[in-house]
Amino acid sequence: MNPPEGSARGTLLAIAADRLRGAGVESAEHDASELLAFVLGVPRSRLPLVDDVTSAEAERFGDLVGRRAMRVPLQHLTGVAHFRYVELQVGPGVFVPRPETELLAGWAVEQAAAIDGPVMVDLGTGSGAMARSFAHEVPRARVHAVELDEGAHAWAVRNLADTGVDLRQGDLADAFDDLAGTVDVIASNPPYIPHEAWESVEVEVRDHDPELALYATGDGLDTVRVVERRAALLLKPGGVVGVEHADVQGESAPAVFTEAGRWDQVRDHEDLAGRPRFLTARLAR
Ligand SMILES: C[S@@+](CC[C@H](N)C(=O)[O-])C[C@H]1O[C@@H](n2cnc3c(N)ncnc32)[C@H](O)[C@@H]1O
Repeated sequence: MNPPEGSARGTLLAIAADRLRGAGVESAEHDASELLAFVLGVPRSRLPLVDDVTSAEAERFGDLVGRRAMRVPLQHLTGVAHFRYVELQVGPGVFVPRPETELLAGWAVEQAAAIDGPVMVDLGTGSGAMARSFAHEVPRARVHAVELDEGAHAWAVRNLADTGVDLRQGDLADAFDDLAGTVDVIASNPPYIPHEAWESVEVEVRDHDPELALYATGDGLDTVRVVERRAALLLKPGGVVGVEHADVQGESAPAVFTEAGRWDQVRDHEDLAGRPRFLTARLAR
């Protein structure tokens, strides 16, 4: 893009959106606006109030649009991801939190809100998105989070600083022995894509989210099985767990819990697009 001196906002946005659309970016208009707002240091809602853009700003915008056209995730370019009521720092080495997971986090918040001083756990916290939301939305909660990957854990350290969250680095398979039988609410968005399905994963995800965040062995549910076993050990009798899964796992993921024979009220929940997205279950008393 060769920006004219003192470019008009509308023209720049239209050219950028065309370029992104041509590169296969689905949310081309949205991403172009986000990037321009980022360069100008204004919220996207204020863009209509901006008339001219300096040539330096237009050049920086052009560079970012070029990288987005190469399918670098928008959030890696702006350095932030928004999740419910919090903002997370994100970049290479950590899974970018998704809007679908906001529903699982919201379910966990609702469950905890009914309990006095609830104990909450986020298994595989990544950037710390759910744990940070729990600390923000349920201030009386004691929140614990675990992440195996060293790089992702470093992002979580930043995002959970000053939140009071007990963040640990380790494997969720054996995390929190000290909390056994004391936890009220567990939420987990584990890796759940079978390795052989990697070709169907969109470019931004496949090339930029860490492999450990995406893929699980076997039918893709092996980490969900580990979460089931760990949740059964950590929860109080009557405690609840919510686990995200792929839309094609709307029956097979809940079946992991029903077949274990120690859960009541196993049910599945849809996302805003009406696709099966997460299961919830209550540990039998
Ligand atoms: C799909 S990402 C979700 C991250 C975050 N909870 C979110 O929703 O944005 C899964 C996360 O689980 C972590 N993970 C995978 N296997 C793990 C294990 N065995 N123990 C702990 N964390 C694990 C990955 O490194 C990754 O950060």
